[in-house]
Amino acid sequence: MTDVIRDVPVEIVVAVAENGVIGHEGDLPWRLPTDLKRFKTLTMGKPIVMGRKTWVSLGRPLPGRPNIVVTRDAAFTAEGAIVVNTVDAALATAQELARETGVSAVSIIGGGEIYRQTIDRTDTLYVTEVAAEVDGDTRFPDIDPELFEKVSEEPIPQGEKDSHAMNLVVWQRKSALR
Ligand SMILES: NC(=O)c1ccc[n+]([C@@H]2O[C@H](COP(=O)([O-])OP(=O)(O)OC[C@H]3O[C@@H](n4cnc5c(N)ncnc54)[C@H](OP(=O)(O)O)[C@@H]3O)[C@@H](O)[C@H]2O)c1
Repeated sequence: MTDVIRDVPVEIVVAVAENGVIGHEGDLPWRLPTDLKRFKTLTMGKPIVMGRKTWVSLGRPLPGRPNIVVTRDAAFTAEGAIVVNTVDAALATAQELARETGVSAVSIIGGGEIYRQTIDRTDTLYVTEVAAEVDGDTRFPDIDPELFEKVSEEPIPQGEKDSHAMNLVVWQRKSALR
């Protein structure tokens, strides 16, 4: 029997306002420490893939996870991260690292441009629905209910330090990608 190398599952982790906004002027348009905790739990140990603008907005590598940054700038360097020049290379690098370290999945962590280019190759969407309409310049692509099924939904009350209440929704691709 031939050995089949199975691709490592791809996950998207995102927080989205009711009007689809995820960012404004290079930053997050809310303050949600409760969601940041969930983000940390979901991504810890997994290779994380992000666009150059999200990398710049974070300002540092996220610890405990291989950080992979996508840019078209061949000269770009990012201390503490792996820099690649295509989305394909980002996914391949992330999946290779996940295989090497035995972790279950790779995480796409934004921003809008990278979500748009990877949602078609994603198995699971971890979406924090932010209970607000906010002004912003960056959006998440529409989730196609023909392709993804909502498998869980959990309301999260607004914590003392959160600017809004949230709803934690998990979407699973209906037909396996691979
Ligand atoms: N709410 C959330 O969950 C969440 C999560 C993450 C980020 N955000 C927000 O989203 C915003 C940033 O998103 P964004 O859409 O502006 O930028 P982004 O997706 O973070 O980064 C865009 C950059 O990625 C690189 N890139 C994109 N496609 C590429 C490709 N095919 N090949 C090579 N490089 C490619 C380019 O870098 P170069 O220009 O260097 O070539 C491009 O300018 C910020 O406001 C951030 O706070 C929100």
